[in-house]
Amino acid sequence: MEKTHFTQEINMTPELMARIEELCSHYPADKRKSALLPVLHEAQDAHDNWLSIELQDKVAEILNIKPVEVYEVVTFYTMYNRRPIGKYMFEFCQTSSCCLRGTEDLMDYTCEKLGVKIGEPTADGLFEVRGVECLGACGYAPMMQLGDFYKENLTKDKIDQIIDDCRDNKIILHDK
Ligand code: FES
Repeated sequence: MEKTHFTQEINMTPELMARIEELCSHYPADKRKSALLPVLHEAQDAHDNWLSIELQDKVAEILNIKPVEVYEVVTFYTMYNRRPIGKYMFEFCQTSSCCLRGTEDLMDYTCEKLGVKIGEPTADGLFEVRGVECLGACGYAPMMQLGDFYKENLTKDKIDQIIDDCRDNKIILHDK
């Protein structure tokens, strides 16, 4: 049976709390829920790129909303992860332009090279592959998102280089 509950050490550092309060300050005090999406991003970024149920509950508490209001957002958007994921998540666009230009082949190639199936992290926790909907870079198909950045006009050679760069710690994931 697939594991559905994962535990996570929650660390709401003063820096993280300050960022959350800054985001909430853009809205009236009784509308803290309006900051939910960016607050979830901050919480996720500070916790190895995923949000346990306990962390989602903590966000609900901070925003003075019900936990279910957080769960329904986290389960709707693929950009929030509900389990530990590979450090380097290759999110291949699987919509028409990218498919026509070979995404499926590239995903198969990447999975084979990494020895994983789609949606399954490598044993060392470094890599994972998943398919997502159009990322709005159709003119640069096939493409994928890696962290905050796009990798475009992909080929097998480019995939090889990206994997090598990840292993050599040369890939920057976040733009802040
Ligand atoms: Fe792939 Fe739009 S179809 S980015």
